[in-house]
Amino acid sequence: MTTILNIKSSSNLQGSVTRQIGPVAVERLKAQYPDAKIIERDLVKTSIPHVSPQFVSAMFSGQNDAPALALSQKLIDEVLASDIIVLEVPMYNFGIPSALKAWIDHVVRAGKTFRYGAAGPEGLAKGKKAIIVLGRGGVYSEGPMKTMDYQEPYLRMILGFIGITDVETIVIEGVALGPEKAAAALAGARQRAHTLTHRAA
Ligand SMILES: Cc1cc2nc3c(=O)[nH]c(=O)nc-3n(C[C@H](O)[C@H](O)[C@H](O)COP(=O)(O)O)c2cc1C
Repeated sequence: MTTILNIKSSSNLQGSVTRQIGPVAVERLKAQYPDAKIIERDLVKTSIPHVSPQFVSAMFSGQNDAPALALSQKLIDEVLASDIIVLEVPMYNFGIPSALKAWIDHVVRAGKTFRYGAAGPEGLAKGKKAIIVLGRGGVYSEGPMKTMDYQEPYLRMILGFIGITDVETIVIEGVALGPEKAAAALAGARQRAHTLTHRAA
């Protein structure tokens, strides 16, 4: 059975473009894997707290079963159980929303999703595919704003760090540049989501 983890992080609950396109991608994958199990994590409707002093203390002292790390373990289990992760990510101030960063801080943990060996860091969440749905007011895939994009490069780096290197993007950009540009960006993204294919590793 294929397990799809769908992460939502837009605080716009009316008209979010990532919240429109993410489900198109999930539906497309469901058509390919009719028995797929879907795990939905909406980081806005149910937010993940910032890393707390108790979290850090338990983590640094190796108390992996401490209550302060229970949510982290649950989120890690969801990632490790999944075959495909569909991440819906708006650009906020050139990077990712803090709601998603809090999730990352809970999921990226030494000994759980990565470890350091003789050859350097090794991701432990291997054999998965990630589809990242990126929403942006401006245009960053080309042109003068390209170097200001700390959203896609960061996501690719952190996913790669935990072993997820098979990453596809669906970019919805320029949505703040007028209704025509927004409609074209959405139509392009919808088409791209419809043509997603995933081959199990
Ligand atoms: C707090 C906040 C910060 C934003 N920062 C940026 C930004 O740095 N660059 C940009 O192009 N758009 C920015 N935007 C616009 C969003 O990226 C845009 O609205 C996009 O559609 C967000 O995805 P969503 O519709 O799924 O929420 C920002 C929006 C908000 C609410």
